[in-house]
Amino acid sequence: MHFRLSIKAFSAIALLTAISFGTLHADVPSSPAELLKARRDHYNALGDANKAIRDLSRDRNPDFAAIEKAAQRVVDASINQSKWFPKGTGPEAGKTRALPDIWAKPAEFEAAQKMFADRAPALLAAAQAKDVRALQNALRDVGASCKNCHDQFRAPE
Ligand code: HEC
Repeated sequence: MHFRLSIKAFSAIALLTAISFGTLHADVPSSPAELLKARRDHYNALGDANKAIRDLSRDRNPDFAAIEKAAQRVVDASINQSKWFPKGTGPEAGKTRALPDIWAKPAEFEAAQKMFADRAPALLAAAQAKDVRALQNALRDVGASCKNCHDQFRAPE
């Protein structure tokens, strides 16, 4: 008897949880917290793509098709990054390393984004040319643009 009741209670809770989750998502498809999480996912994917290029470029016989794919993802990120910082997605929206200066100093932040966007295409060009030396130079230049922004606009861990 007791056992059957608990099962009933349990399924009622599960159902309510499912309903409230569904409602939450339907009502606020892009809450500040969700946008913040999406931004962090984008950056982690960018970090993975950048690392893949670095690792693959060290092979004796680099897989340039795979490098090109990853370079395309880096270029895409450099184009899309401007959409990743809607107002209200700073520390007020949850756990983030994005510093308030991103919104307080928009011109400086745009300059940091532009440095990355200007340099990223060299990765793709080097991958397409199958030129390891050019790839290494592009990795260094792009890496410096990541660091330039992180130093100014990303909080330490
Ligand atoms: C214009 C600024 C800017 C540029 C350029 C930039 N980043 Fe970031 N990056 C950030 C900010 C801000 C965060 C923190 C986001 C957050 O926590 O909401 C971040 C987060 C990350 C993260 C997630 C790790 C963590 O816990 O914060 C990785 C990985 C990362 N960046 C890698 C890169 C790489 C690799 C590049 C260059 C190819 C790059 N970033 C270029 C600003 C930038």
